[in-house]
Amino acid sequence: MSTETPAWQADIDATAAASLAAIAAAQDLATLREVEVAALGRKGSVTALTKRTGQLDKSERRAYGAASGGLRKQVQQAIAARRDAIRQATVDAELADLSFDETLPGTEPAGGHVHPLSRVQLELEEVFTSMGFAVLDYPEIESEFDNFEALNIPGWHPARDMQDTFWLESGHLLRTHTSAGQVRAMHQLEPPFRAIFPGKVYRYESTDASHEHTFHQLEGLMIDRHVSVGHLLDSMRTLLSAIFRRDVQVRLRPGYFPFVEPGFELDISCQVCGGPGCSVCKHTGWVELLPCGLVHPNVLRAGGLDPDEWQGWAFGLGLSRLVMMRYGVSDIRLLLGGDARFVEGFHAGA
Ligand code: DAH
Repeated sequence: MSTETPAWQADIDATAAASLAAIAAAQDLATLREVEVAALGRKGSVTALTKRTGQLDKSERRAYGAASGGLRKQVQQAIAARRDAIRQATVDAELADLSFDETLPGTEPAGGHVHPLSRVQLELEEVFTSMGFAVLDYPEIESEFDNFEALNIPGWHPARDMQDTFWLESGHLLRTHTSAGQVRAMHQLEPPFRAIFPGKVYRYESTDASHEHTFHQLEGLMIDRHVSVGHLLDSMRTLLSAIFRRDVQVRLRPGYFPFVEPGFELDISCQVCGGPGCSVCKHTGWVELLPCGLVHPNVLRAGGLDPDEWQGWAFGLGLSRLVMMRYGVSDIRLLLGGDARFVEGFHAGA
């Protein structure tokens, strides 16, 4: 084996010198990347040398392979080192720039938003919890019994027409109101008790600015030995002042619901238009907020309670409507429409 310097060594050395000089001269990452491609790319100078192995005499191939492979590695390492150096220099330059103030607050990352429905629901849960109410959760798929029959609405009863129902093939239904939880609560809790059960309800009806097929209600139920309309009204007043954080006008009208006797409709002055009329209040200035009444004896019986011993009041708050009032939302379809921009409009503390 010859100890002379092989003929190809000059090419290797020249390419190494040229590449390393170009690497050292690169002042930014883009230029360095160009140098990298020119040396190590498919048509690069170092790559061209590596490909030459096959043209050499067999006796030289091993030495040449080691030399060209070594060159490739050397160039790769030089590029990596230069890249680190350029990055570090960029950071150093930024820090040295006196107009850069690292103590200034950065851009605040965009966070999520609690949906106004959830916010109002949680707030109400707090108000009621502080008044001694339990917060209960019942299924959205209900039996015909709990949704209708137990509430004194038998199959033949005309009141069934009041609520268009999504029926399931199993004979179950999507609850049309949170009142479906009343009898469940009577079985679940030991009287006397007070409870609320908020949740989604479903109605098979055409939609417009004040009607949705899916919306939220919050049912309230209080069972005790002596319950009067006075109790009911007093609780409603406390509740509404807590919700609206101001005095709202209310009016009580007689209302018919098979599961209460007497039954009432509690209206509040429209919080969107303030009185003159708009699409939310159907141009009356008043919005039906809260039907309520004293629990019908048949419902108490369905709940296993003796109407001679126990009485109760109940209300069904339209949570969706309340949110609309509270935030001045004029179309109920926005609430569950799924447009994130709607929710983003409600910032914490609003
Ligand atoms: N469940 C009734 C509805 O959705 C509302 C209702 C009326 C609930 C009177 C009550 C009540 O608790 O006492 O139309």
